[in-house]
Amino acid sequence: MKILAVIGTRPEAIKMLPLIIELKKYRDFEVLICSSGQHGDILKCVFDYFNIKTDFSFCAMKKGQSLSRLTTKLLDYFDALLDKISPDLLLAHGDTTTAFCASLSAFYKGIKIAHVEAGLRTYDKRSPFPEELNRVTIDALADLHFAPTQLSRSRLEKEGRESVFVVGNTGIDALSYTLDNNYVLPVSNKEANKKILLVTTHRRENIGSKMRSSLLAVRDILEYRNDFFAVFPVHPNPAVRTEAISVFEGIKNIKICEPLTLYDFHNILARAFAVFTDSGGIQEEASFLGVPVFLLRDTTEREEGMESGNIRLVGTDRKRIFEDFLRVSESEDELSKMRSRSFAFGDGHACEKIVKILLPLSKNNDIIK
Ligand code: UD1
Ligand code: UDP
Repeated sequence: MKILAVIGTRPEAIKMLPLIIELKKYRDFEVLICSSGQHGDILKCVFDYFNIKTDFSFCAMKKGQSLSRLTTKLLDYFDALLDKISPDLLLAHGDTTTAFCASLSAFYKGIKIAHVEAGLRTYDKRSPFPEELNRVTIDALADLHFAPTQLSRSRLEKEGRESVFVVGNTGIDALSYTLDNNYVLPVSNKEANKKILLVTTHRRENIGSKMRSSLLAVRDILEYRNDFFAVFPVHPNPAVRTEAISVFEGIKNIKICEPLTLYDFHNILARAFAVFTDSGGIQEEASFLGVPVFLLRDTTEREEGMESGNIRLVGTDRKRIFEDFLRVSESEDELSKMRSRSFAFGDGHACEKIVKILLPLSKNNDIIK
């Protein structure tokens, strides 16, 4: 079976490369990898970490381009690439513009599509934007749906989707490549002795006043409590950078830095007191590691982490985040609930499960409906 795996952004690479490594163990699959270059260096860094080279690559990233421009470029690119390769199966992940465009192009050409991380929903088409629309559409186009959880499966089945398999999230598998018991935090001894807060923000729908307000809450915490030290690897989006730099100007107990390598990020996360984030994947990783998540968003598609008690949806209001965090950080009872490790998003074997499902299909493509 000839499989074309498409990857465009950092999180797609983190969650797809462990699956590609697993697929490549079997001669039944010819796996070709395409990088759309929706992201630049932060994407390359993940390919380098896993020591995987692309078979086809494009450079879709351009500073400040609109979503429409990115979409038209990617559709043109995948249109030509799919004609050239004619894969039996397109493997797409999640909800990015790359995954959306590749799936739409494949559908137009009658190429079968497998969607990894299918069935995530907030049921709010503007949050996360535009990812909710992307994933709903990709699930409608897909022939095979690899759902991370039972909840995602039940959502897909309610929508009438067939061929749905619960496998866990491949992002949890990635942790087995990175976690290191001997890791040393890249901060001074004095800082390492403080409680570490990890901070990340990038969601489009938060850029502007919401992102500013949630970052101001983190600043308030750092000013009020000198026993915390924050590490904030800033997303390359210039709009995010501007907020990050201006909000934390003059604050001493924070390290603002370039995006971290996956190895550094996972190991700092594993040692953090808590993470403040609007990310999708970090919600899963932190829940698995038992690190409390203060989710700087109005919605989440990862309700499993709220049910298990790992994630608090604190929104973007400055006062609410500040008060909520301080209250929880002083309550052993609340903290211990947020710190219990959850396997809701997977057990680290999602890639093997996906390959086991694909193996019989590779012998007979027709059984993919
Ligand atoms: C995209 C995904 C989002 C994912 C996020 C992960 C879509 C619609 N969104 O977010 O689901 O959570 O990636 O990070 O596909 N930039 C660089 N260098 C980079 C990457 C980005 O300079 O390596 C800058 C560019 O100016 C770019 C901007 O950041 O235009 C935004 O990048 P983009 O890929 O469009 O990110 P998002 O849509 O925010
Ligand atoms: N990550 C990383 N370096 C960083 C920040 C995040 O390697 O400086 C990893 C993190 O471990 C997770 C992924 O990037 O696996 C999350 O990416 P992001 O938040 O950009 O996207 P999302 O998950 O929201 O789609």
